[in-house]
Amino acid sequence: MCGIFGYVGARNAIDIVIEGLRRLEYRGYDSAGLAGVQENQIVFSKEVGKISVLEREVRKQTFQVPAAIAQTRWATHGKATQVNAHPHFDKERSLALVHNGIIENHDDLRRGLKDQGVSFVSETDTEVVAHLIAYHYDGDLLGAIQQAVAQLKGAYAVALVHRDFPDQIIAIAHEAPLVIGIGNHEAFLSSDPRAFAFYTRQAIYLSNSEIAIIKAETQHVYSTHASIDKEYCLLEQEFGEPSKGEFEHYTLKEIYEQPQTIRNALASRFVVEYGTAIFEELTFEDRDLLSVERVLILACGTSWHAGCIAAYMLGELAHISAQVEISSEFRYKNPLIPPGTLVIAISQSGETADTIAAIREVKAKGARVLGVCNVQGSTLVREADETLFLKAGPEIGVCSTKAFTSQVVVLSLFTLLMARRKYVDYESFFFLGRRYMYPTCLEGALKLKEMSYINANGYAAGEVKHGPLALIGEQCPVVALCADRITYGKLLGNLMEIKARHGKILAIASQKDRHLEEIVDDVIYVPVSRDELAVIPVTVVTQLLAYNIAQLRGMDIDHPRHLAKSVTVE
Ligand code: AGP
Repeated sequence: MCGIFGYVGARNAIDIVIEGLRRLEYRGYDSAGLAGVQENQIVFSKEVGKISVLEREVRKQTFQVPAAIAQTRWATHGKATQVNAHPHFDKERSLALVHNGIIENHDDLRRGLKDQGVSFVSETDTEVVAHLIAYHYDGDLLGAIQQAVAQLKGAYAVALVHRDFPDQIIAIAHEAPLVIGIGNHEAFLSSDPRAFAFYTRQAIYLSNSEIAIIKAETQHVYSTHASIDKEYCLLEQEFGEPSKGEFEHYTLKEIYEQPQTIRNALASRFVVEYGTAIFEELTFEDRDLLSVERVLILACGTSWHAGCIAAYMLGELAHISAQVEISSEFRYKNPLIPPGTLVIAISQSGETADTIAAIREVKAKGARVLGVCNVQGSTLVREADETLFLKAGPEIGVCSTKAFTSQVVVLSLFTLLMARRKYVDYESFFFLGRRYMYPTCLEGALKLKEMSYINANGYAAGEVKHGPLALIGEQCPVVALCADRITYGKLLGNLMEIKARHGKILAIASQKDRHLEEIVDDVIYVPVSRDELAVIPVTVVTQLLAYNIAQLRGMDIDHPRHLAKSVTVE
């Protein structure tokens, strides 16, 4: 895909932008070009093919420019030819610009400009922007750009040089990534901050019809009518220099990196002792996660495949209905987003235009968006309410490999997190057991009542068919205490009766048993011990069950309502 790089400062601007293009090479492209201003004339070079071809041509010239812009093009409007390669110019060649994105109303604008006598040399939508700015220019370049931006439709990132202002570059961004890098008496511009992170980690992200005038010492940002104060941000460490190491291709290196990238995705998130997941970066409140009734997954390509796997997992393991949509199709369905929907947007890069447009659509309809992304600071990360990071390190190969396996790991952890919340919403529970486990049931039910104000009844399991069975069903789960060895077989029979009536069963058991696992929905195992002593570990589990449910329901656990620690009245 297209990549933009720009530089202004004391270094050799041409060398720096060629090097910048090399760092963007991984995105895939078919032609490349660059431009600057020398002795008040636009100088440029553009070639079809590799950056090395462009560099060979540039070395034949004696370019000396204080500022330069450059681009790798991936053809959309017009074939991959030298004429269609960027930069593009106005008629007088007073300006040169490069562009990523698509100008959606380029046909209308072209017609209007042609009526004004403008002639076009390329098939691109980009050339329209050059002529449009020149058309409005009367000495006030910012004003001309502001007028042009007000007329442009689509998503675009543009870098521009003008012969009247040799020592500055201008950046224009609308719903397409463009980032300014602020160095020491120098500045950089790129569609991917990774390309300049080698020089500086101080960055300003542009978007929403923003225009930046970038000089070595100053960088000012404007909207279509006023100046804007933009916040600087610090790029993350992971934006370091990429390297193939001993591998022939980045793709092979990334395939071999997977043992480590999977470890990174799991590290400090999978809590073995509790069999659940914790995401440090997730600041959704428990009540936000509890209110999730359905999940809508949006993604493209490989990320969409990971989304399809996540939908199965969420449905089967967390019992949350999940719908997966290809972002580019979803955008045009005018979708209904019912309350209780969590949107999960999956994107390795965080810059996929269709996915970004789809999340804007759902956010406008009030949905909460959880991003699953590999690139800190990307558009998805900035626009989603929350993001779970893949921590896979830069994926340079165009074919997504390690990102996919990391996406599956992160999404399975998220499924686990959601699945662990599934007993929280019930308003009624039965605790069943026999012999030593019978009073243990009564105690377990009491704890749940006290801590979470849920209606919980403890029963001797054999008594259930004499009445309480009438209450068994999907809405009333059973906590089955299965740690009494003498009555274990009989209890399994009672559980079969419950299962036959669609009751949901959480068992607490002391020995692994295939038969039990086939009957019940979930099992929590406690250490094997004598029947009399099994009361203790089983009780601890019921206490923790009550505690966790109460906490997720936001109860005042230490001080339940209406209760006192010492009841000193009769
Ligand atoms: C597949 O190998 C791809 N490069 C492509 O399908 C990619 O997965 C898709 O474009 C989505 O990219 P994203 O994850 O960065 O959004």
